Amino acid sequence: MHKTPINSTRQNPIGIFDSGIGGTSIWKEIHRLLPYENTIYLADSLNAPYGNKNECSITKLSIKNTELLLKKNCKLIVVACNTATTSAISYLRQNYAIPFIGIEPAIKPAALHTKTKAIGILATKGTLSSALFSKTAARFANDVKIIEQVGEGIVELIENGELYSKTMETLLRSYLAPMLAQHIDYLVLGCTHYPYLLPVLTKLLPKHIQIIDSGAAVARQTKAVLNSNHLLNLSDKDPHLEFYTNKNTHIMASFLDAELKVNALQF
Ligand code: DGL
Repeated sequence: MHKTPINSTRQNPIGIFDSGIGGTSIWKEIHRLLPYENTIYLADSLNAPYGNKNECSITKLSIKNTELLLKKNCKLIVVACNTATTSAISYLRQNYAIPFIGIEPAIKPAALHTKTKAIGILATKGTLSSALFSKTAARFANDVKIIEQVGEGIVELIENGELYSKTMETLLRSYLAPMLAQHIDYLVLGCTHYPYLLPVLTKLLPKHIQIIDSGAAVARQTKAVLNSNHLLNLSDKDPHLEFYTNKNTHIMASFLDAELKVNALQF
């Protein structure tokens, strides 16, 4: 319905959006793999968390973010949010004429490599209750026990800049306890905010438990899709890297390298 033919060039930016700061963990993987690509990142922190909203609201927010990135001439959009991917990516793919990359929890590699046949997954309510998650779990982890845990409250703490707070540690301890009781050997981080928990999680978990996320896989997929659409930027000039948030620029900047500027924008 909204499909409009677009004439992207290789220099057009990659658009990336998330419900907030979390997707910058994905931006970092993309920038590492594709250092010459121009990028525009949108943090919809004003509407975070998406995880407890219904599918219709998440789709509406994803449309709003997409329209803004399209106005800024993005050639491809990375939905750097597991929750928005599960709720909205089919709609976006059907209605807009550019490629979309989504993100899903890395259940497949965890299920493939687990020795204890028990894996933990920490994600939002929206992701864990989605049809896409059930389908992926049934397909790749049929013979494995999945201990699911909704990360209630984690995104809010990260968005408030309380990553290393006592409250965060207490919350995580309570979420990990049932997983440890079931002897998981893999913990899947099913929300793009959660890679920022790694320092705390490695402190709280026994060493033999592997913690995995999908960031690097998303970056590889972004490169492959750009390549197959003849949209990889072949230049070796310093890229334009733009970051926008509709909430707190300082908190967001604290998750990025000091030379990267975060702009305030109402959207
Ligand atoms: N970062 C998001 C994800 O990957 C969403 C978190 C939220 O807003 O609830 O699911």
